[in-house]
Amino acid sequence: MDSNYWDSIYQKKSEKEVSWFQEVPRKSLELIESFNLALDANIIDIGGGDSRLVDCLLERGLNHLSVLDISAISLKKLKERLGADASRITYIESDIVAFRPSKSYQLWHDRATFHFLTDLEQIEKYLSIAHDALAIGGHLIVSTFSKTGPEKCSGLSTAQYSEDDLKKLFGRFFKNIKCFEDTHQTPWGATQNFVYCGFKKV
Ligand SMILES: C[S@@+](CC[C@H](N)C(=O)[O-])C[C@H]1O[C@@H](n2cnc3c(N)ncnc32)[C@H](O)[C@@H]1O
Repeated sequence: MDSNYWDSIYQKKSEKEVSWFQEVPRKSLELIESFNLALDANIIDIGGGDSRLVDCLLERGLNHLSVLDISAISLKKLKERLGADASRITYIESDIVAFRPSKSYQLWHDRATFHFLTDLEQIEKYLSIAHDALAIGGHLIVSTFSKTGPEKCSGLSTAQYSEDDLKKLFGRFFKNIKCFEDTHQTPWGATQNFVYCGFKKV
């Protein structure tokens, strides 16, 4: 994956000009809250970009947060928005399939990044990295376009998944907790169908 591609998107577009923008990532937060994480849980947002998830987690007292993204510009924009809170986050500029975690995590969150991996080898790498990075008892959330979701995003092809597809793929490594579908409204009122699944490493 080419980091320049994503950098140019983040350079050109403001927060509310990208289809994936969420003022509050409600569905992710509902799932995270259901896991009853300790306040010192290590949490990583994969392909977090300048998502407001970390703002919401900081508000809830969760303080051990990392955001990984292939785009340095997205992380810079996130730091700028967070202002005084910027130093409370660990920023990891990396392609997810090249990520070498230096610690283990109690929560791995990925909304709308995994579905950009369309090559089987990359998908296998992702699963193996996620498995190694997650502590025993840790949780993983993956949210992708559903079978009725878009086939492209930002000019890139995306994979589409059903609940069963995600259960089969991630179920090889993790125990499924729940899955559900959700319709996301883009800032300009279009809809995109997503599927969310929560898993646990047992
Ligand atoms: C559709 S955006 C979703 C952003 C965020 N998760 C959200 O829900 O608002 C996809 C994000 O994944 C990042 N990304 C794409 N491919 C990646 C890869 N191979 N490794 C790491 N990050 C990647 C992009 O830079 C972008 O920030």
